[in-house]
Amino acid sequence: MGGLRATLLRAACGAGLNQRRDLSSWLTQWFSKGPAKSVVAQKTPIKVELVAGTTYRWCVCGRSKKQPFCDGSHFFQRTGLTPLKFKVQETRTAVLCTCKATQKPPYCDGTHKSERVQKAEVGSPL
Ligand code: FES
Repeated sequence: MGGLRATLLRAACGAGLNQRRDLSSWLTQWFSKGPAKSVVAQKTPIKVELVAGTTYRWCVCGRSKKQPFCDGSHFFQRTGLTPLKFKVQETRTAVLCTCKATQKPPYCDGTHKSERVQKAEVGSPL
């Protein structure tokens, strides 16, 4: 992506000053240096029914409004993060993490009970 960014910046140099600022700002936002941190979506897990053979996309970024699943917010907010795709072998109930601090994603491992998560603000990174 660095090559594309450099090419676009060179093209921007031929544009007027205001156009260059706008394009440069847009490029900096779009090609941010690294992925954003996940944020705490909620402080308690969500119990869901998972159907065998269905592909699910668990929200990694914490910004989805359809917790615990992805709604595309990671992309539209340019987080650089991607959802975790998973399937289950058998239809069953599962408890999925919403604090985004679990060590066993997408499943809750109880980390949400920690002081670190309980003291964090919803919508903020840990
Ligand atoms: S909700 Fe994240 S570990 Fe339980």
